[in-house]
Amino acid sequence: MEIGNTTVVVTGASSGIGAELSVSMALAGAAELVLLARNEVALNEVARKVEAVGSRARIYSIDLSDVEAVKTVSGQIRNQVGSPDILINNAGIGQWKYLQDTRLQEIENYMAVPYLAAAWMTAQFLPAMLERGSGHIVNISSVASRLAWPGATAYIASCRAMRGLSDALRADLKRTNIHISHYESGPVESPYWSNNPQSRERVPGVAKLLLPVLSEEMAVHAIVKGITGNKRFIVPSTMLRLVYLLHSAFPWLVQGLMTGTGSRLSSRTVNDY
Ligand SMILES: NC(=O)c1ccc[n+]([C@@H]2O[C@H](COP(=O)([O-])OP(=O)(O)OC[C@H]3O[C@@H](n4cnc5c(N)ncnc54)[C@H](OP(=O)(O)O)[C@@H]3O)[C@@H](O)[C@H]2O)c1
Repeated sequence: MEIGNTTVVVTGASSGIGAELSVSMALAGAAELVLLARNEVALNEVARKVEAVGSRARIYSIDLSDVEAVKTVSGQIRNQVGSPDILINNAGIGQWKYLQDTRLQEIENYMAVPYLAAAWMTAQFLPAMLERGSGHIVNISSVASRLAWPGATAYIASCRAMRGLSDALRADLKRTNIHISHYESGPVESPYWSNNPQSRERVPGVAKLLLPVLSEEMAVHAIVKGITGNKRFIVPSTMLRLVYLLHSAFPWLVQGLMTGTGSRLSSRTVNDY
C-alpha cells in the first residue's frame, strides 16, 4: 500500500521498533500517526518527533491487554481520527522462560500482548477497511513464529498465535484489497532485552552464529518496504531466509540445531503459585 496521506495506527509506539517505525512512517508521507502504548511520557516524545517531520500525531495511553480499554480506545480513534488505512500490531512482551518457571499470570500476559491485542485491534478496525475496500495490517512477530528453542515457551507460543492470525486473516481476505504482512526476524537491538531480562542469554548458539543482530533502523526499513510492496512475509535477513529454506528441506536438522545449541533445562522450578 502507498503510505502517502494515510492514517496509521501503531501499537507499542512508545519504545524500540514501534517508536522508530512511527517516525519512519511519517517520513514516508503518512498524514497522521495514532500512537498507542501505556507510557504516556514516551508516547508524547515520539509524537513530537512525528510532528517534527510534518505529520499529525495523536496518542492514546492504553493497556492493550485490557479488552474493555481496547473497545473504548478503538471507538475513540474511530470518532476522533477515523478508521486507519494501516494498522501495525507491534506491541509485545515476553520474557524467555521455561513454562514451569513462568508465573501463571505471565503466561496469560504474554498471550494478551502481542496476540490478543493484535486480534482485538484488527477486529475493531477491519469492518471499516472492508467497507472502504482497502487496508493494510502488519503483525510484528519473530523467528519464533516458525522455529522453537528451549527456555522461551510462553513467548514462542504467542508468536505462533500471531503467525496463525496472519495466515488465517490472509485466507479470509483473499478476494479483498486488504493486505496482511507478517514480520519475523531474529534479534533486534532494542529496549526489548532490558524490558525482558534474562532473555538474551537464551538465544541458541546456532542463532548467535548465523543470524545477525539487526538495528531498529534495519527492522523498520524492512517493515516500510514490506508495506509499500504488499509483502505477505517480511523477513529482513538473507541468512534467516536461507535458514527457512534449509528448514523446509530438513526440518529435523534446523530444529535439532536450535534445540541442541539452546539452553539446558535445570530441575529448578519457581512456579509456586
Ligand atoms: N527486539 C527484538 O529482538 C525483536 C525481534 C523480533 C520481534 N520483536 C517484536 O517487536 C515488537 C516490538 O518490540 P521492541 O523490540 O520494540 O521492544 P520494546 O522496546 O520493549 O517495545 C515494546 C512495546 O510494546 C508496548 N507494550 C508492551 N505491553 C503493552 C501493553 N500491555 N499495552 C500497550 N502497549 C504495550 C511497550 O509500550 P509500554 O511499555 O509503554 O506500554 C513498547 O512500546 C514486539 O512485539 C517484539 O516481540 C522484537
